[in-house]
Amino acid sequence: MKIDYDNPIAATREIYWVGFYDETAHLHCNPYLLIDEDDIVFIDPGSIPHFPTIMRKVMDIVNPEDITYVVAQHQDPDVCGNLAVVEDVINRNDLKIVAHSNCVRLIRHLGLRSEFYATDEHDDKLILKSGRELQFIHTPYLHSPGAIVTYDVKTQSLFSSDIFAAIYQDWSLFASGDFLTPMESFHQKYMPSNHILKHCMEKFEKMELERILPQHGSILENGNIIKAINHLKQLPCGIDLIDGIES
Ligand SMILES: [Fe+2]
Ligand SMILES: [Fe+2]
Repeated sequence: MKIDYDNPIAATREIYWVGFYDETAHLHCNPYLLIDEDDIVFIDPGSIPHFPTIMRKVMDIVNPEDITYVVAQHQDPDVCGNLAVVEDVINRNDLKIVAHSNCVRLIRHLGLRSEFYATDEHDDKLILKSGRELQFIHTPYLHSPGAIVTYDVKTQSLFSSDIFAAIYQDWSLFASGDFLTPMESFHQKYMPSNHILKHCMEKFEKMELERILPQHGSILENGNIIKAINHLKQLPCGIDLIDGIES
């Protein structure tokens, strides 16, 4: 089935990909909307150049004024460079921007007016009005000191930000074919070391995971999840690949 990337794409009945598919780029960004009963959570809302497409897709499925939380899983410009304009469009006084305090310290320089919800000051969780629980896992140095990933307990979905990200020649939103090789170059370039990455994979392999939704590359489901975890567990990256430095 051919996917129409001009429109929002449902990963589940409540989770939508709302990204911009730039056919000339090898690194695609994946912002997601999680639509709950009385809350809408916008995860890694993306960059300024992608903003018009992303917001059009958001508006295709929800009223932006119904978005109650924006999660910034780390501070990179491709993850949340558009936060100031996103909060203007959402335009609600009680909007909260969810991030680790090591990330909040940096993204406040984007000139935001919304209140921050520091995950590490809230027991690493957010309970939505329906009772649905989002858990945050601090993944320090993967690839930022304040990096987090977000776990939706209800659907067992892990929004993994740059972890499990991939650089593709021939991208598809859902993993198919050889999805492990495209993951390698991203992790080799952007992750600090196998020692740190492996520690994180050992945490993830104990979790109940239905799907992993990274901020670049492809959504992983079923057997692809453990294949990816095992692959990254043994992948030398970052400082491991720099001659003359012993990690
Ligand atoms: Fe990043
Ligand atoms: Fe990224």
